[in-house]
Amino acid sequence: MVAPSAFLSLLIASKTSLALAQKTWPSSLEFLAKGSDEEYKDFVTPLAQMTKLTYTATWGSYYREKDENETIAGWLRGKLQSNPLVGMRALTFFEWNTNRGVMAFRGTDLNSSNPSGQVDACANAFLSLCESHSGQLPAECQNFTVHQLDYLSRALEFAQTAAEAHPNTQWLYTGHSLGALLAELVAAQRSGAPALTFSAPPLTPLLKRLKQPELRHWGTVTLYDQYDPLRFQAVGQLWSANCTWARAEAPEGCKACEAAPIDMHSEACQKCFFAAHTFKTYLKNVYSQRRPDCPDSTNTVIV
Ligand SMILES: *[C@@H]1O[C@H](CO)[C@@H](O)[C@H](O)[C@H]1NC(C)=O
Ligand SMILES: *[C@@H]1O[C@H](CO)[C@@H](O)[C@H](O)[C@H]1NC(C)=O
Ligand SMILES: *[C@@H]1O[C@H](CO)[C@@H](O)[C@H](O)[C@H]1NC(C)=O
Ligand SMILES: *[C@@H]1O[C@H](CO)[C@@H](O)[C@H](O)[C@H]1NC(C)=O
Repeated sequence: MVAPSAFLSLLIASKTSLALAQKTWPSSLEFLAKGSDEEYKDFVTPLAQMTKLTYTATWGSYYREKDENETIAGWLRGKLQSNPLVGMRALTFFEWNTNRGVMAFRGTDLNSSNPSGQVDACANAFLSLCESHSGQLPAECQNFTVHQLDYLSRALEFAQTAAEAHPNTQWLYTGHSLGALLAELVAAQRSGAPALTFSAPPLTPLLKRLKQPELRHWGTVTLYDQYDPLRFQAVGQLWSANCTWARAEAPEGCKACEAAPIDMHSEACQKCFFAAHTFKTYLKNVYSQRRPDCPDSTNTVIV
């Protein structure tokens, strides 16, 4: 007689070999614009949940002990993760019975009174220096090493490590804000792998840090809240397609922030940022009944 546990693993094994060949990530994410509500929801919701865990399962202001080893329905948390006390944070997830994997990158910890927020702020400053090829890191960043601050190199390395450790896994990259930037750049570096992100900052200035990036318009998609100042900032600086959740009313500061040349340090943009950019806003949008609208660049009618 076969013990129940052995029987169960047999069952899983046979299901696995059946499903493995079939369930891969789509090479184009255009169904987010044109597919059914079900397809859209089934794709975006788990990625939003994983992105939420990048904030609550890693060291920093948003850490919740109960989430440390947490996963989401249908997915196994990978043991492989990047969660140093200071540095780039990313989690991995593996879907049951398929060879699909997700790598989710964390965005910025906005609380600068703790080391996680301090190093994130310095890492963002480091990325800006890479974009502009000039300037100096703020004095308070001198305490961190370049190795700690260079999140893009760490993200590329982490993706390579994961690919080597799991050669049969097909990866999709996700993340919010700074995490969206890392996800899309890693995807571009890794043969145009798929990426679905939440609120990507301007991406093209950092392309010169990649070797032969592969950029596919519907291969990566970023989702925005209509009034997220990063959406204003990123215009013309994405290669990905984008979809936007419309809002009936602009949060305080957003109209003024959008009207002027975008200055993220202005009072209007700061107010708008906290009202429309944080991941809380994005979770609300994901769980709302509203679906984001994806303007089609090939059919855009200018009126
Ligand atoms: C998470 O897993 C690690 C390693 O197994 C363990 O040391 C830690 O206590 C776990 N955390 C929680 C909150 O259960
Ligand atoms: C920011 O971090 C500090 C130090 O860890 C903590 O005392 C404070 O409550 C945090 N503030 C917020 C708004 O989370
Ligand atoms: C940086 O290091 C110096 C000297 O070790 C220390 O006095 C200072 O408090 C540190 N600054 C931060 C932001 O940690
Ligand atoms: C979103 O896509 C539309 C259509 O391709 C484009 O006009 C717009 O600039 C894009 N938004 C951003 C932030 O790049």
